Amino acid sequence: MMKIAVLVSGGGSNLQAILDAKVRGELPNGELCLVLSSSPDAYALERAAKAGVPQAVCRPQDYADRSAYTDAIIETLKDYGAEVVVLAGFMFMLAPQFAEVYENRAINVHPALIPSFCGPGFYGLKVHERALAAGVKVSGATVHFVTAETDAGPIIAQKAVDILEDDTPQVLQRRIMEQCEWILLPRALRLLSEGKITVKDGKVHIDQ
Ligand code: GRF
Repeated sequence: MMKIAVLVSGGGSNLQAILDAKVRGELPNGELCLVLSSSPDAYALERAAKAGVPQAVCRPQDYADRSAYTDAIIETLKDYGAEVVVLAGFMFMLAPQFAEVYENRAINVHPALIPSFCGPGFYGLKVHERALAAGVKVSGATVHFVTAETDAGPIIAQKAVDILEDDTPQVLQRRIMEQCEWILLPRALRLLSEGKITVKDGKVHIDQ
């Protein structure tokens, strides 16, 4: 069983999608060893508790700087034996050593079709506000490996949805979560835990 840790900051609906996939038998080679939150108030922690998954909290404000915080996260992940890490709505930029330690073993879900609407400053509702302001006709989600540069790692999977006339950022966010993120993320995790994903020259190859 591959040990999976999920990093969260808020609602944890993507975490829930992973937990549900596990219950349905769609993550046969993986088990959740830890849900690590940047905030003690994250609802994601309740979801973890209900599912019987160990929880930990590491608050950025308790550390001198980004690097010290990142070291604490890495230590906690090691304590729980995490082999694979999922950033699922984790709202804090980790220092480069995280991507080094977990090279090709950490994945992130971003609520847009990378390379559109991504990078520093594109998080939460802001992503969808910018997509609507640009007038694009489709958006979606991307699951990618984490590298030192924000939202720039090798792309594992993407899924698109139409943008509709009267969409608000909230409505679009919900559609992208339901139709893209909650489907793509557990699927990518399954492939990763089954050793079916390889990275060569910065590109992902999937052995289906
Ligand atoms: C998701 O849209 C995720 O892609 C983004 O933040 C949102 C978090 O949702 N980065 P949740 O905490 O998984 O419900």
